[in-house]
Amino acid sequence: MEVVPLGSDSEIAAVAAGIIEAVVRHRPAAVLGLATGSTPLPTYRELLSRHKAAVGPSYAAVTCFNLDEYVGLAAGHEQSYLATIARELTDALGISRDRVNGPDPSSDGLETAGERYEALIAAVGGIDVQLLGIGSDGHLAFNEPGSSLASRTRVKTLTAQTRKDNARFFSSLDEVPTHVLTQGLGTILEARHLVLIATGESKANATAAAVEGPVSASCPASVVQLHPHVTVLLDPAAASRLDRLAYYREVYTAKPAWQGF
Ligand code: PGA
Repeated sequence: MEVVPLGSDSEIAAVAAGIIEAVVRHRPAAVLGLATGSTPLPTYRELLSRHKAAVGPSYAAVTCFNLDEYVGLAAGHEQSYLATIARELTDALGISRDRVNGPDPSSDGLETAGERYEALIAAVGGIDVQLLGIGSDGHLAFNEPGSSLASRTRVKTLTAQTRKDNARFFSSLDEVPTHVLTQGLGTILEARHLVLIATGESKANATAAAVEGPVSASCPASVVQLHPHVTVLLDPAAASRLDRLAYYREVYTAKPAWQGF
């Protein structure tokens, strides 16, 4: 695991956008795993500004998979994650909507939605790079504390904390769905490269538990310790409770230019 303490959101965005661009340059038909929430937005803005300036790669052949989706919102709801990712990133990158996938929250197919989503991911050969945020309660995607470390895509119930954290996207807490479909922790571990971003003081405890605590279902994000290729990008506030912070800084300062991420 490579833990990279950076100075600001914009430094994180530059590194994360560079990782994604490198994957797409290497493989124009790359499969990108996308996250929603506030954390990846600076990265998405950076990708879009490079794309608009015509310095980024073409995304025309890329396929995308979202980590999760709310259950119970009206089809096409502006806060659905499929609508959100199209609005924040993929439309403007020129990725057609039929190449952007999310778990299907239709009420009549929830029992099979997980396995259908897994089959779609498998059919394209898996995810090349997966962007991840972290919940203030340590969740990864919407795998809340207590989630099996081997879990697959399925319906989950959000914790009260997560619904409170996400209420800012809705007009009231009551409107935040109680249920979601989410890639499982076992599903996420199959992506070839995980890029976990954490920013802000509210993520400091969860970040320390995920990166330096025991691997435990009590902190689902700690499952990244089991993956062979993980990059953790942190701002100063999110990194502030790491015991080995000085060491991570030293490693990053001495990182050989040839190494990449
Ligand atoms: P945030 O959410 O990026 O909006 O903080 C992250 C998450 O819940 O995983």
